[in-house]
Amino acid sequence: MARITAGIASSHVPLLGMAVDQGKTGDDYFGPIFAGYEWTKDFEKQEKPDVVILVYNDHASAFDMKIVPTFAIGCGESYKSADEGFGPRPVPDVEGHPDLAWHIAQSLILDEFDMTIINEMEVDHGLTVPLSMMFGTPDEWPARVIPLAVNVVTYPVPSGNRCWALGEAIGRAVESFPEDLNVQIWGTGGMSHQLQGPRAGLLNREWDNKFMDLLIGDTDEARWIEHIEYIRETGTEGIEMVMWLIMRGALGKKTRCLHRHYHIPCSNTAIGHLVLEPKPAG
Ligand code: DHB
Ligand code: FE
Repeated sequence: MARITAGIASSHVPLLGMAVDQGKTGDDYFGPIFAGYEWTKDFEKQEKPDVVILVYNDHASAFDMKIVPTFAIGCGESYKSADEGFGPRPVPDVEGHPDLAWHIAQSLILDEFDMTIINEMEVDHGLTVPLSMMFGTPDEWPARVIPLAVNVVTYPVPSGNRCWALGEAIGRAVESFPEDLNVQIWGTGGMSHQLQGPRAGLLNREWDNKFMDLLIGDTDEARWIEHIEYIRETGTEGIEMVMWLIMRGALGKKTRCLHRHYHIPCSNTAIGHLVLEPKPAG
């Protein structure tokens, strides 16, 4: 039986991809940010996940205003790195897991989550930066990846509660896959950031840390945070954090925190990172 053994949350700032690609991860600016991921890199070397369900948002790379799926799942064999204006990142292609992805798609749709199915697309920093943060610079990514894209770019975006419930449904889908697979789920994006307008540069250390607290233990309070609170407290792009709730929902009633890291600023963004394990309730 496939099992979700861990959940990881991480910001996905494009500048971090550039730091990796240009060998600057140890300098004064980036050193303290990357230091907070060393624990996780070791963890991943021990855990060796077979598959990562990688919840992220596309930033007008695979989709544009012609098509904006609310929830989309990648069922393809592989995905190339998108050109976001500076050429594609020099990272390995992302290998999918079509069997598990189609199984999850079927399970979710019969569970009344009407997923968009994607067989071909390119993946941008939302997906490749977290891979670099957790796995470093291998010749091939050490895990298969099922991209799960969420619209947090154009309103209406899905509610926190809907995201949490989707996570719960993903948990049920994975558990009903017969093959023995070590599966992780990652939620990316956030934390506080606003990239444009009069409040550009807004960061909120206190709110971000309260949000991380709410993902640990047996509370599900975070699913009820309204869009307006994310925007008011964490800036317009802080809404990306609803994707962390999909990860959290998939871990079940209770979690334990294995690792936690917070750093500001990175580019215009607060870096937040959590490694959680599902715990039986009680
Ligand atoms: C930045 C952060 C993001 O999450 C993103 O998608 C793009 C840019 C930034 O801080 O530069
Ligand atoms: Fe983003």
